[in-house]
Amino acid sequence: MTGPVRVTPCPDGPLLVRGADVVTDEDGTDHPVTRPVVALCVCGKSGRRPWCDDTHRSIRRST
Ligand code: FES
Repeated sequence: MTGPVRVTPCPDGPLLVRGADVVTDEDGTDHPVTRPVVALCVCGKSGRRPWCDDTHRSIRRST
């Protein structure tokens, strides 16, 4: 992909990343990006990290 990478935080949810070619997780592992927009987990509870799997929704409801 070409052009700038844009990161948009969602209230109580993931970071939406547009225009990235790869995401590097906290362990240094590269994850190729194959879609125009991906959602990165910021709650730490996703079963598919670094991607958001909507687990944050159940966390928000239970608190
Ligand atoms: S932000 Fe969605 S599962 Fe963590």
